[in-house]
Formats: sequence, C-alpha cells, structure tokens
Amino acid sequence: MAKAKRKNRVAVFCSGSGSNFEAICKNASKGLLDCQIVCMFCDRPDAYAFVRAEKLGVPSLFLSPKAYKDKSAYEKAIVKELALFNVDWIVLAGYMRILSPYFIRKFRNRIVNIHPSLLPAFKGADAIGDALKYGAKITGVTVHLVDEQVDHGPIIMQKAVEIKQGDDKDTLAQRIHRVEHKLYTQALNLLFNRKWKIEKGRKFVLID
Ligand code: GRF
Repeated sequence: MAKAKRKNRVAVFCSGSGSNFEAICKNASKGLLDCQIVCMFCDRPDAYAFVRAEKLGVPSLFLSPKAYKDKSAYEKAIVKELALFNVDWIVLAGYMRILSPYFIRKFRNRIVNIHPSLLPAFKGADAIGDALKYGAKITGVTVHLVDEQVDHGPIIMQKAVEIKQGDDKDTLAQRIHRVEHKLYTQALNLLFNRKWKIEKGRKFVLID
C-alpha cells in the first residue's frame, strides 16, 4: 500500500483577534487547504486568538516576551517550543513582532505573512488607516514570504480592494478581512502543493 504523503505542519502566529487563523483552520478541516495546523503561537496573553484556538481544538502556546532578557532569548525559546511540534511552516496572521534574522534563517522561505495593502504601498502597522488617510482609491491584500526587511519578501499573491467613498477604518477593514480569509488559503496552497522558486532573491515563480 502506498504511504500517505506527510502533510506540512504549520504553526500560526497571532497577536490579536485571529480571524485569519480561524479561516485557515476551517479551510484546512474542510479539505480546502492541504496542511495540518499543529499550534497557534501568541505573544499576548489576552488575545482573542486563544478563544478561537480553544473552540477549534488547536493547541495554543504563549510565551511572554517580558520573561526573556532580549529578543534573541525570546526567539530561541519559541524555536525550541516549535521543535516539539515538528513545525515546517510559520504562518503569520496578525503577529505584531518583527522577527530577527536569526529566526528568519531558521525558517528560510518557510515564513509567510499577510499584509492589508498592495505592497510595497502602505507598509507598517496601520496599512488600512494609512491608505485611507492618503486618499487611495484602491488598496488590497498581499501574501508574501518573510525576509529580513519588514513587509518586503517575495510576493505570492495579491488582490485589490476598492476604497469606497465614505469608508472608515472599520468598513474597509471588514472588506479587507473577507478577501484575506480566502486569499491566504489560496496562497498557502500554492506554496504547499506547487513547485516554485525565488528568482534573484525577489520574485516568486511557479515552475510546474
Ligand atoms: C490582518 O488584517 C492582517 O493582514 C494583518 O493583521 C490583521 C490580522 O487580523 N497582518 P486577524 O487577527 O487575523 O483578525
């Protein structure tokens, strides 16, 4: 009998609500996403992502950054915990800490992020507010691999979202989230199921 292919083992990193985490888990259990969500890591003890993890039956992990002398010690502790889960991929879903080169090297081209703008426009923590303030008419969602620079690595997929007259941060964020919840799964499926390469350290290219 043929041996079943080992599924990619994914840790989702959150700092807040965790709606993307929930969408990813639900899509994985519906068979729409080919991987196993092995744990949810969070750096904030009061994050709603813990409530979602409990409901979804996904093990959650909290390490307080305050308990470590510096970022390096904190990240080493995270890496140690992840090793217990045999994690292959890190999926950032609203994780608000910048990962160090040490961590990125450990999971080179195996860390994915979702950002609520069409990168390289509106990098940073308030991309939705910044697009509104700027008066942009179109913004969107980007899923990208993580490299040493913030909101910078090779782009896997992007989708535009129109900014409508009268939009505020809440209405725009709601529409962006609806797009995110589908796009993240599509992009992860490309990464997990297709053959791809990174050209010139920058360009994500499918090769099958
Ligand atoms: C999303 O808008 C994502 O693009 C950004 O952080 C937000 C997380 O939302 N990186 P949630 O915690 O998944 O609801």
